[in-house]
Amino acid sequence: MLVKNEIKKIGLLTSGGDAPGMNAAIRSVVRSCVFHNIVPVGISKGYDGLISAKMTEMNARSVKGIINKGGTILKTARSKDFRTKEGRKKAFDNLKNNKLDGLIVIGGDGTFTGGLVFSNEFDFPVIGIPATIDNDIYGTSHTIGFDSAINTVMQSIDKIRDTASSHNRLFFIEVMGRDAGHIALNTGIAGGAEEILIPEEDLGLDRLIQSLKRSQKTGKSSSIVVVAEGDKTGDNVFQLKDYVEKHLPEYDARVAVLGHMQRGGSPTCFDRVLASRLGVKAVESIIAGENCSMVGLQNNKVLLTPFKKAIKGITEINPELLKVSDIISI
Ligand code: F6P
Repeated sequence: MLVKNEIKKIGLLTSGGDAPGMNAAIRSVVRSCVFHNIVPVGISKGYDGLISAKMTEMNARSVKGIINKGGTILKTARSKDFRTKEGRKKAFDNLKNNKLDGLIVIGGDGTFTGGLVFSNEFDFPVIGIPATIDNDIYGTSHTIGFDSAINTVMQSIDKIRDTASSHNRLFFIEVMGRDAGHIALNTGIAGGAEEILIPEEDLGLDRLIQSLKRSQKTGKSSSIVVVAEGDKTGDNVFQLKDYVEKHLPEYDARVAVLGHMQRGGSPTCFDRVLASRLGVKAVESIIAGENCSMVGLQNNKVLLTPFKKAIKGITEINPELLKVSDIISI
């Protein structure tokens, strides 16, 4: 295990889907390295950049003016080559040739899985910072980007509601979340949705129809159903709309798929502070000789979770939020 004075250079990359606040995390890591007399090295385009040796030494000024910017100045990718042993061997050779002593990876579970495999293969220190709008990483109450994304989605729902109520329409709004319903549940509550469909809970088509009938009976003239991308109630959100229109022909239904606009934009204050805290802790963790772990927020403390747990652990949906949604959507 490397100890404090052996760490002279740390590599840094962003990988997987971009998330607002990644730049704030990059800034924090770079400046923490400089603070500890460590040279930060930015790796471009995630693990692909590690394989093709796209690396540049950075300094405190390399990260000026980015704390408020969405996306990632380091670029990102979902690397196929890093899934191969040859790819990872090239990456390791490049790290050694450039005299790097540790690696900080910013991303989601795919990023940490890559980091874990790589570190085990080559005994190389890797620390992760969770950044994904989905908030589906175990070991942190919040991933970087989640808060920004839910605020973006909430504002979109508010705008769609203007049309829904003006035309007495039913809107199905699809939000991101391949395997997790955190975005849908939180924005559904905040946007006053009548129903929220998430992969973790099988509401079923019948209950959806019953619920919409009840809404009509209680005098609602327009309705919003927030659907997580990964929800299994229908084949997809368009099929869901067709099904409802067939069974409730009195509804004038529309679909809005919010898509990638959810991942863009300036990070919220919460995400900037979170990214700054996690970046500092990630550098401190590498210096302290930690490996194969992710920094995360637990009860407002920044703590480490082993990659193995962070990847495999289930991020449970808060049942209280489900109850709140049921009660206040009547
Ligand atoms: O990063 C998470 C996420 O935004 C998911 O919610 C979504 O399913 C996926 O990425 C989309 O990925 P891509 O941009 O590669 O199509």
